Amino acid sequence: MAQSNLYSRVIGTGSYLPADRVTNQDLADRLARQGVETSDEWIVARTGIHARHFAAPDQTTSELALHASRQAIEAAGIDPESIDLIIVATSTPDFVFPSTACLLQNKLGIKNGGAAFDIQAVCSGFAYAVATADSFIRGGMNRTALVVGAETFSRILDFNDRTTCVLFGDGAGAVILQASDEPGVLSSALHADGSHSSILCTPGNVNKGVIEGSAFLHMDGQAVFKLAVKVLEKVAVEALEKARLTAGDIDWLIPHQANIRIMESTAKKLHVPLERMVVTVGEHGNTSAASIPLALDVAVRDGRIKRGQHVLIEGVGGGFTWGASVIRY
Ligand code: UT7
Repeated sequence: MAQSNLYSRVIGTGSYLPADRVTNQDLADRLARQGVETSDEWIVARTGIHARHFAAPDQTTSELALHASRQAIEAAGIDPESIDLIIVATSTPDFVFPSTACLLQNKLGIKNGGAAFDIQAVCSGFAYAVATADSFIRGGMNRTALVVGAETFSRILDFNDRTTCVLFGDGAGAVILQASDEPGVLSSALHADGSHSSILCTPGNVNKGVIEGSAFLHMDGQAVFKLAVKVLEKVAVEALEKARLTAGDIDWLIPHQANIRIMESTAKKLHVPLERMVVTVGEHGNTSAASIPLALDVAVRDGRIKRGQHVLIEGVGGGFTWGASVIRY
């Protein structure tokens, strides 16, 4: 019988960045050797990115997820066997199938037969995953969820395309959500508009044993920029209204870390002071579904985010997809 839980609550966070830290200058030097021109000045001025991390050639998304998950499990102080739901948000899975979540369950040594699946909502993936896990827990279907955003975007970057390859990085972030009588996730809002699918896509597919179409990321940066600024404000307001809060109640804004200009514009529109926004894009680059849980973990571990505070997370990305959650930490 379904048990009635009022809330799902964050009881632990974790994150992982691969060892290879590549500064803008490192990247500019590498690209120059193949005749592609860029500069630290351009990247910083247009995006706020100073460095990103790239996975080692043999490092998979599930491995990055494993490191972040172990940290989150340790922070939560739970037995991994108590995790009855694993959701991995990723657009760079290890395989077409099985899902990265199933691979992660096995790597964690979990034998309880709990549910495990991936969510594919690109850079909104973590917002989608939190909303999904929260619904499952509040509905009584599950009690303890491991929710992960993990990406190896470096694998789908075309290093001859300077308009995209300087923007993205690899990494993983994880949270444990558990059923609780105390407030946790207060509200969520998710949206998609598939008519904009072509402005940000990796349109290749596997057919008869070969990849058909391009397996590289393609983006119309300006179109994405304009849409992102518009929907991020709208979805934040929607999630706040659902939680019966205003932007003034938000202690920390954690937007998807794609571009400091988009992030600052969103914060200004919402009237959230910039010092209340968690910014990791400078050191992480855009890690797609991993960017929000990475930033969350950084701000939890450095003591900025404290118990009882309100955190607004919001993502936007390919699909086109967007979503937000208000969380009482
Ligand atoms: O995670 C999903 C969400 N993704 C995003 O939110 C990304 C949204 N878009 C953006 O962040 C920005 O549009 C970009 C950072 C991608 C680009 O910034 P922009 O201010 O829109 O630049 P632009 O595309 O208008 O390009 C300006 C100039 C162009 O040269 P011309 O035509 O003015 O001569 C580009 O060719 O900058 C040039 N350019 C570069 N120059 C040096 C483009 N990429 C580079 C580069 N290095 N890496």
